[in-house]
Amino acid sequence: MRLKGKVAIVTGSARGLGKAMALKMAAEGAKVVVCDLNYEGCVAVKEEIEQNGGKALAVRCDVTSREEVAALVAQTMDNFSQIDILVNNAGITRDAQIIKMTDQQWDEVINTNLKSMFICIQEVIKVMIPRNYGRIVNITSIAALEGNFGQTNYAAAKAGIIGLTKTLSKELGRKGITVNAVAPGFMDTEMTKTIPAHIQEQLLARIPLRRAGQPEEAAEAVVFLASDAASYITGQTLSVNGGLYV
Ligand SMILES: NC(=O)c1ccc[n+]([C@@H]2O[C@H](COP(=O)([O-])OP(=O)(O)OC[C@H]3O[C@@H](n4cnc5c(N)ncnc54)[C@H](O)[C@@H]3O)[C@@H](O)[C@H]2O)c1
Repeated sequence: MRLKGKVAIVTGSARGLGKAMALKMAAEGAKVVVCDLNYEGCVAVKEEIEQNGGKALAVRCDVTSREEVAALVAQTMDNFSQIDILVNNAGITRDAQIIKMTDQQWDEVINTNLKSMFICIQEVIKVMIPRNYGRIVNITSIAALEGNFGQTNYAAAKAGIIGLTKTLSKELGRKGITVNAVAPGFMDTEMTKTIPAHIQEQLLARIPLRRAGQPEEAAEAVVFLASDAASYITGQTLSVNGGLYV
């Protein structure tokens, strides 16, 4: 078990990639805080973890709210007394070409996908720094690396995450905290089901491995970066994209 005795918070873990990360981290021995806007989804994931013999806590939390994130940290400490791992996974898309993109579409994506990381990391390091230990994994995207038509807001937020990750690796390294990013490509989740079928076909044809990634394959990269096997890795972005962008 690679995460035995650790406590992990995974944001946006009621479904999709976050759910796969929560399940895999619990299977590796971590106590997992499953948090999302969708509380019922969190409870379902918590129950699945417990049925598999793991430990979990379900918390409804909007990661754009400092008050709610502070409450999430407090609730985690009350239940599990420590926080070793933070996975910043919650994210949304609000796609439109730049000429039609509204201020609201821009702001929602920047706040949910980027500002949330500033808030979550600031709140969680308050308990990581005194223990001189932490593993932070931020979920970015292939869109940060190669751009994506109709996703100015999303690609900007995801590219911002890479800059944030590199910078925090420099600031937090001497506190025993590593900060890395995982950049999934085209993964099989609810988020990508909204992509029109003909675009999905074009994408699949460009992927050297000729298939979408499974959520568990992104989760595996997160577990690695959160584990002691990655103790000398910080400031990096690990792509999980089947070779779509190299
Ligand atoms: N699916 C892909 O192909 C893909 C590719 C690259 C990157 N990503 C990134 O991976 C992450 C997960 O993607 P997914 O496909 O599982 O998406 P998803 O839409 O299936 O799940 C995202 C979860 O985040 C939650 N969430 C949204 N806003 C939130 C908020 N303010 N506070 C708390 N929770 C919130 C949602 O309720 C949802 O449960 C995202 O950051 C996404 O940008 C996904």
